[in-house]
Amino acid sequence: MSKPLEGKVALVTGGSRGIGRAIAEKLAADGATVAVHFGRNGKSAEDVVAGIQKAGGKAFAVGADLTAKDAATKLFSEFDAGAKKNGGSGKLDVLVNNAGVAPLVGFAETTEAQFDELIAVNVRAPFFIAQEAVKRLSDGGRIINLSSVVARLPAKGLAAYSLTKPAIDSLTKSLAFDLGGRNINVNAVAPGVIQTDMTAAFTGSEEADAGVMSGQALKRIGQADDIADVVVFLAGPGARWITGQTIEVSGGTTVTL
Ligand SMILES: NC(=O)c1ccc[n+]([C@@H]2O[C@H](COP(=O)([O-])OP(=O)(O)OC[C@H]3O[C@@H](n4cnc5c(N)ncnc54)[C@H](OP(=O)(O)O)[C@@H]3O)[C@@H](O)[C@H]2O)c1
Repeated sequence: MSKPLEGKVALVTGGSRGIGRAIAEKLAADGATVAVHFGRNGKSAEDVVAGIQKAGGKAFAVGADLTAKDAATKLFSEFDAGAKKNGGSGKLDVLVNNAGVAPLVGFAETTEAQFDELIAVNVRAPFFIAQEAVKRLSDGGRIINLSSVVARLPAKGLAAYSLTKPAIDSLTKSLAFDLGGRNINVNAVAPGVIQTDMTAAFTGSEEADAGVMSGQALKRIGQADDIADVVVFLAGPGARWITGQTIEVSGGTTVTL
């Protein structure tokens, strides 16, 4: 039986770890050839690629530091080279703008360097990666951006990070409108707290996990696969009539006061 994403090519930024890794693995399991992007952890990205290939899937790694001004150009020159080496034409069907940083630093302590990194990685990079991706995206393609519940519900110690995610929701709506004529669907997924390196400071102990769960309707700590399943749905045929939406995937974090 053919897989739902057979013949499709996907690019996942920040596919080397955490949520991006789970997304890359699930897209590949559904048949897509996946470009696994990394910033500093090339070895982790190569491990993800090797795991996908071992499971019978297709993947290659693509490196680009997203704090750099020309990050999108660099990323896509790597993507084009990797695609060619793997027998592809350079066309793209699914872009997942997942890479992000979230320094746990209060409003008063935030430095200009931290602020600039947040804007570069969480806002500027997804914008210009999407701009470059659109040149290669097939009609009927998908863009999926990673937002966060903090766009709606501010979290303590995350003022600078929190302001980057409404920008992602806004970009999602603008692109859905701009690209709808090409039948390209653009959506965002907004996770609640998910157990990854990004949340290591406030998950993992009994006390910390109890604090997180007290704010959720569902009483467990979210995992990367919980997000990846929704992203893969949005990349697939069942999501054909959904565009311009931010879908919260948080175990019910914002359903109550
Ligand atoms: N975890 C959560 O609770 C949570 C909640 C809401 C939203 N999110 C969002 O979900 C996305 C993934 O989060 P995560 O928890 O999986 O984070 P993570 O485990 O910290 O992984 C971050 C990923 O982003 C990449 N990245 C970071 N800085 C980069 C840079 N300068 N250049 C290139 N790549 C860079 C990393 O690549 P390298 O390691 O190769 O540098 C890594 O693959 C983010 O957009 C985040 O804001 C997460």
